[in-house]
Amino acid sequence: MYGLVNKAIEDMVCTNHGQEIWQEIKKIADLDLETFISMEGYPDDVTHRLVKAASEVLEISSAEIMQAFGEYWVKYTAQEGYGEMLAMSGDTLPEFLENLDDMHARVGVIFPKLQPPSFECEAATEAKSLKLKYHSHRQGLAPMVNGLVKGLGERFDTDVEITQTQKREQGSDCDEFLVEYQPRNR
Ligand code: HEM
Repeated sequence: MYGLVNKAIEDMVCTNHGQEIWQEIKKIADLDLETFISMEGYPDDVTHRLVKAASEVLEISSAEIMQAFGEYWVKYTAQEGYGEMLAMSGDTLPEFLENLDDMHARVGVIFPKLQPPSFECEAATEAKSLKLKYHSHRQGLAPMVNGLVKGLGERFDTDVEITQTQKREQGSDCDEFLVEYQPRNR
């Protein structure tokens, strides 16, 4: 994955736990580089090793790390120069989720080797609920989607309940989520 992702993990760990813990995580992940370069591609294994090492050092599960990272990513990208791209992609949670593939297509102009995820969004018949299908070239990132949707809920001042309803690791063709949402104070 592009270095931007690993840099965001570094930023999240340093902000929440400090430099020393980050150095420890890097050591356990067996990474002896000084810094990540946002626009450079790194093997996915680097990201997986970081998540595993963070899980060991912080004594929380990898799924929880990925979920926290998903939430963090929404704010991180907004601060790191991609705010405009986020702003163009919708003014409400459902509108934004609908536009995720277009958004990553725009991201792909800047990151030409991007292997983006793909999302399908189906509005349910009941109000304020939708079905989100997540397709990926990669395995095991569903917990991150959980956090991403929560982070988007924060962005749009919207309470979100997200439940995974189908799992690729259990043989489904993709991961699927039920997203129930309620804009606050509206
Ligand atoms: C403007 C903001 C964003 C930027 C710049 C961005 C960029 C990226 C980049 C660089 C990757 C790594 C893929 C690779 O290197 O091949 C990625 C992956 C991913 N992004 Fe985004 N992204 C943004 C917002 C979002 C949001 C809001 C979501 C919410 C669902 C999202 C969902 C994902 C997922 C799930 C992956 C994992 C890739 C996979 O499944 O293979 N991204 N994105």
